[in-house]
Amino acid sequence: MARLLPLVFLAVSLAWPASSKPLPVLVPVTKDPATLLYTIPFHHGADLVVDTAGPLVWSTCQRGHLPAEFPCNSPTCRLANAFHVPGCRARGCGRDRRKDRTCTAYPYNPVTGACAAGDLVHTRFVANTTDGVHPVSQVSVRALAACAPSRLLKSLPRGASGVAGLAGSGLALPAQVASAQNVPNKFLLCLPRGGSSGSTGVAIFGGGPFEVSAQPGRNFTQELVYTPLVAAKKGMPPAHYVSLESIAVENARVPGAGAAVVCTKVPFTLLRPDVYRPFVDAFARALAAQGAQGGPVARPVKPVPPFELCYDTQSLANTRIGYLVPGVTLTLGGGTNWTMNGLSSMVDLRPGTACLAFARMEGVKAGDRSAPAVLVGGFQMENTVLEFDMARKRLGFVRLPFFTQCGHFNFTKIGY
Ligand SMILES: *[C@@H]1O[C@H](CO)[C@@H](O)[C@H](O)[C@H]1NC(C)=O
Ligand SMILES: *[C@@H]1O[C@H](CO)[C@@H](O)[C@H](O)[C@H]1NC(C)=O
Ligand SMILES: *[C@@H]1O[C@H](CO)[C@@H](O)[C@H](O)[C@H]1NC(C)=O
Ligand SMILES: *[C@@H]1O[C@H](CO)[C@@H](O)[C@H](O)[C@H]1NC(C)=O
Repeated sequence: MARLLPLVFLAVSLAWPASSKPLPVLVPVTKDPATLLYTIPFHHGADLVVDTAGPLVWSTCQRGHLPAEFPCNSPTCRLANAFHVPGCRARGCGRDRRKDRTCTAYPYNPVTGACAAGDLVHTRFVANTTDGVHPVSQVSVRALAACAPSRLLKSLPRGASGVAGLAGSGLALPAQVASAQNVPNKFLLCLPRGGSSGSTGVAIFGGGPFEVSAQPGRNFTQELVYTPLVAAKKGMPPAHYVSLESIAVENARVPGAGAAVVCTKVPFTLLRPDVYRPFVDAFARALAAQGAQGGPVARPVKPVPPFELCYDTQSLANTRIGYLVPGVTLTLGGGTNWTMNGLSSMVDLRPGTACLAFARMEGVKAGDRSAPAVLVGGFQMENTVLEFDMARKRLGFVRLPFFTQCGHFNFTKIGY
């Protein structure tokens, strides 16, 4: 017996080489041209809308689905009900007329705010693992989802059957993939710009490395700069919050501080009214100053709502980093700068018209400290590698160089 032991150890160590560390899970991300929302594939050709502030995974379930047997008082059910969107008339857990008091969740639509009661169900989705360069092998990932009636799909992209919540909470997709696949509770998001340069971006659950085919060997997770993720205030959705220390337009500081939220459900960045006004004025002034100093003289044109500053594209200098406009810098907690050039700050809205792609937050009063100062929207995140690291409570980001984009991830599988 004693002589057999070393053999057993040897067999175990051979069967468990260092390379068997679980690989992160890769999911392609596309942009819906009609709603400007981003989706990931789920079941049978149906997609889920990416919501970085969403606490649940939900979809319209098949008829006759079997509810997962979680009692109302289970930790899982409490997690499912940790946040109710304002105005959602949740009746607490369970439907009273049902004796078994099985858990009920209240999924909501991130765009309309509508909610509905639904069962929790066990589901699986198929994806590929990745080494950060290519897909590696197919996996079927266990997850718990809430069911919703199809009316909850209003205002979501055609072909979407629900929402993939990517918040930091326990029933959001990142934490579920982390526990099902034994990878870290973090994810990378690289959103595609879509449109005519239409392309497929990526989400990688479990984190980096991350490479694109135009730059073989360059691991972008090494270039991330970080700012701390801060806890949501009581009653606020479990989104990813960071702190905004100040805003600068072309190195001149404009008033504005508070919380900043990274939010894929808003297509363009929204600023609280007290932050918006001085920011837009500073941008217009700085752009006019460029003209006065011998640069091209930007010619304002009729605004295209919700944007206020729009220009004739013929009057703007176009460079590899987009229109030559004043740089916009968000200085975040820890002094980390998120700097946006013309590729991220200006949007082409119709032929010949480009607008400053920041809008005023509606339904919020100037200086209302209970509202975030900034909701960073999808457009401003595009072609930027973002790392949401819940385990280490930090948000990392780095913009890809102008000659490459999120769509340049190489989806060709390589066999090992
Ligand atoms: C996995 O990768 C292969 C190769 O790119 C692809 O054909 C397949 O659709 C991927 N599977 C999923 C579920 O994304
Ligand atoms: C993607 O990877 C495959 C396999 O390594 C390679 O043959 C192909 O050239 C790559 N594509 C690009 C665009 O680099
Ligand atoms: C990529 O960068 C990350 C962060 O620095 C590092 O942990 C990882 O080992 C790198 N991976 C590769 C394959 O270079
Ligand atoms: C961040 O940006 C501000 C405003 O442009 C600038 O004053 C500051 O030096 C920058 N900080 C770093 C660390 O680059």
